Amino acid sequence: MLFLSSFVVSSFLLVASVPIGNTGSHKPRTIPDHHGDVPLESLWAQFAPYTSAAPANKKYAVSSGCTINQVNLVQRHGSRYPTPNQNNAIKTAVENVQKVLPGDTVPEFKFLHAFDYPIKTDDAGNLTEIGKKESFESGQLQYSRYKHLMTGKSIFVHSSSIHRVQKSAEQWIEGVQTAKGWAQGDRIQSPKIIEKQPDEEAAAVVKTTYVNPWKKIYLPPIREALDKTLKVKLTNEDVYGLMFMCPFHTSMIREGDTSSKKLSPFCKIFTVDQFKDFAWQGALDKYYIGKSKYPSEYELSPLGYTKNLRTRLETSKESDIKFYADFSHDNEMAGIFNVLGLFRQKEDLSHEKRDDSSTYKVSRIVPFGTRMVVERLTCTSKPSGSKGKRSGGSIKDDSKEFVRVLVNDDVQPLEWCHGAKDGLCEVKEFIKGPK
Ligand SMILES: *[C@@H]1O[C@H](CO)[C@@H](O)[C@H](O)[C@H]1NC(C)=O
Repeated sequence: MLFLSSFVVSSFLLVASVPIGNTGSHKPRTIPDHHGDVPLESLWAQFAPYTSAAPANKKYAVSSGCTINQVNLVQRHGSRYPTPNQNNAIKTAVENVQKVLPGDTVPEFKFLHAFDYPIKTDDAGNLTEIGKKESFESGQLQYSRYKHLMTGKSIFVHSSSIHRVQKSAEQWIEGVQTAKGWAQGDRIQSPKIIEKQPDEEAAAVVKTTYVNPWKKIYLPPIREALDKTLKVKLTNEDVYGLMFMCPFHTSMIREGDTSSKKLSPFCKIFTVDQFKDFAWQGALDKYYIGKSKYPSEYELSPLGYTKNLRTRLETSKESDIKFYADFSHDNEMAGIFNVLGLFRQKEDLSHEKRDDSSTYKVSRIVPFGTRMVVERLTCTSKPSGSKGKRSGGSIKDDSKEFVRVLVNDDVQPLEWCHGAKDGLCEVKEFIKGPK
């Protein structure tokens, strides 16, 4: 055994002594400070932590003359550990690579020699500390904007039955209550739980038709580059597992600090360009799942949710419930955005070629903790751009009900809504939906 291991070590050293650059044009990988101007998180697609998507110069504001009288929030659970299936695959990949990893050839891989796979089976699929914080902070933020609509009795919370979603809903409630410091007597009711309906069938179709073909295109060149540098033979899935570790391990090591910029050493193995391919995979996944049909119209499904939304928007301003908060999943939310005509693309995304100019950026559309807020507003003076007064109208006659939609703080233009200005769409138009 001793002999064997010293043999292995010396043969690694032998490999290590072969100069990496001897194939001429081949460079190990294009590592040098490639995290400079691109926030790497923006290339993690649905595994990106929550960030606001509001333009830097735009603060949250309500058009003058308008008052919000109802809010509908739908939010994805916060950052999580890999699901059990993902976790098994990633762990296997990491251990496979550790087994074949040569001595000290490549600096970016050094850490892997003494790396103990840190994600516990029990944690798989559950929220990370960052994920709890993202949900809590959303509660605080919504309270700072909509406190006039938020009392214990005026808030109605739904949650998918999945553990991490329920925990996100609870954290959100805690965030709201902490912001307000409510007395015991005025607490928000626990979420109403909605049994998560399966979407595996739709997901499997998207996987075979779009995701896997793209993986077959983008992973082999990355694998070949790593094989060449490390003088090993990896599989595509090994490579994919290592890439996956970048967002998941990062979420762990940031330990609940949502402003942390720490990155896992796994991130340094890959280039920005390679992560753009990874992000394109997420885009294909969410774009096509967003367009697929769900087996049933359960309350959190795209059709189920938007049907409820229409009903809520039509309820009287005198209704006791002023704030609806639904906690859900990325697939469901991608579908809701599709039904509402958000993030529409001129052409379907290609599973053969990445398009860097595409506006379908999953890290802005369905990152962890992603949220859509649909505000219902009454505007007394007409919002800018609308036509003149109705004849003989008093101020009361003049007021109209509008809807405004924000996804991660970014006001959606709602181009399909006749006459929408500043994202304001008349309730009666909004309810008709896009063509
Ligand atoms: C993790 O999730 C499972 C359900 O998937 C749950 O039973 C368990 O309590 C969770 N663990 C923690 C620490 O929250």
